[in-house]
Amino acid sequence: MEGIRKPVVVLDFGAQYSKLIARRVREAHVYSVIVPYNVTAEALREMTPSGIILSGGPASVHQDGAPHPDPGIFELGIPILGICYGTQLFAHLLGGRVARADRREYGIAHLEHGHDSELLDGMNSPTQVWMSHGDRVEVLPPGFAAVGATENSPYAAIADPERRFFGVQFHPEVVHTPEGMHVFMNFVHKICGCGDSWTMGSFSDTAIREIRERVGDKKVLCALSGGVDSSVAAALIHRAVGDNLTCVFVNNGMLRKNEPEMVQCVFRDHFHINLVYVDAEDRFLNALAGVTDPEQKRKIIGAVFIDVFEEEAHKLGHMDFLAQGTLYPDVIESLSATGGPSATIKSHHNVGGLPDEMRLDLLEPLRELFKDEVRALGRELGLPEEIVSRHPFPGPGLGVRCVGEVTRERLDTLREADAIFIEEIRKAGLYNDIWQALVCLLPVKSVGVQGDERTHEEVCSLRAVTSTDAMTADWYRFDAETLRRISNRICNEVAHINRVLYDITSKPPGTIEWE
Ligand code: XMP
Repeated sequence: MEGIRKPVVVLDFGAQYSKLIARRVREAHVYSVIVPYNVTAEALREMTPSGIILSGGPASVHQDGAPHPDPGIFELGIPILGICYGTQLFAHLLGGRVARADRREYGIAHLEHGHDSELLDGMNSPTQVWMSHGDRVEVLPPGFAAVGATENSPYAAIADPERRFFGVQFHPEVVHTPEGMHVFMNFVHKICGCGDSWTMGSFSDTAIREIRERVGDKKVLCALSGGVDSSVAAALIHRAVGDNLTCVFVNNGMLRKNEPEMVQCVFRDHFHINLVYVDAEDRFLNALAGVTDPEQKRKIIGAVFIDVFEEEAHKLGHMDFLAQGTLYPDVIESLSATGGPSATIKSHHNVGGLPDEMRLDLLEPLRELFKDEVRALGRELGLPEEIVSRHPFPGPGLGVRCVGEVTRERLDTLREADAIFIEEIRKAGLYNDIWQALVCLLPVKSVGVQGDERTHEEVCSLRAVTSTDAMTADWYRFDAETLRRISNRICNEVAHINRVLYDITSKPPGTIEWE
């Protein structure tokens, strides 16, 4: 455990890139965690970090109330890497000087260095780096020397090899610094001395042991949705506790084509997991009859889910733990220095916020992982690629893609169109380039002509977006031929659709889903 969990700790000064920094460290096979910038040196010491990274941030070190770390962190004897604002903190707090630059330096720059610094080892000179800063270091603190420079930043990379303090003014974590991974590899392996201990193989061994210790002979209940997170959580917990895990999979009538069959085949037939399949289609559809307001739809679907899930749990008898697929980004948000939304948001989304009366202890074995890591873990556990690389799918399913009233007939129509859209995207080899692709049925009808007949049928809108975290998204640029093929197939093969639109709205202002 110790071996894989001795972290490189990222102090978050409000950078938009903190998560990316932690991910890069993990890509270098070293465990990393993000903590608020004002963590005390004592608390930090207790985390037994191998290294510390001071993130960038939007503030100026001179500003009133600018975030400063506990000065004690410089006395811990642990290597520190400053990135952008983090580097300016070295200069500001350890006896150098930071000045406001006349002009903000933003964009691509070229870093030159003498190939003699352990931090930049392996990087070309010059090499492209990404800059985004207003202030800049004017006088180095005692003990530091410049090890790399750009045209505008003579101190673009600095080092105090004695104290093992290093700083870069540029952002090694972003893709616009193509050789940036060297900075992380050098810092964690050569400077901090970490081994390659963070792999999903080692995570899985450790997590299985931990789950076994915590659960013992007790019983675990898991709401399986067929999405990546709950599937990986279930597979992992099953490895640990076998038949003491029971999964409940609720068919709410708003699932994708063949999804109930696929989930049962994978989990029951292949993994031999205790799986309770509940066909609750009628209950959901009855509750939704006549409802068109998006918020109300979501509330109804959430409430019916809780009723169904509770009834099933009751039938199963006593349970001790409720498994959830909470991921690290949800955990970070709830801990963020600026106070982000609470960690319950995701679970609320997915399990509809189960009532307290169930009084189950939460088992969240993925709470340390980023999405990419969850996928890698899923592969490690032998889950099929179809589940592991799946696009995200909302808890209320096709219900929020059936804009207007949700009826069985409209859902069937939508399911067919969705299956064709996804099939064509897969055939074109584009599935993994797209964050999410979906079809919405719109609450309007249009006139068309099919064969010799005029028709008055449904209109659907296709949406495909690229994104890294669903917070922002851009619409995917299909070539015209692919769109033509998809549109033809949907109009020809799906009864009740006679018109296909393509949604070219980014997020913001549009959301990814329509409702
Ligand atoms: P929006 O539509 O807000 O969606 O841009 C952002 C991401 O969240 C997904 N989404 C949900 N996921 N339960 C979920 O698990 C939900 O209720 C839910 N609503 C939206 C959406 O598909 C997109 O990936």
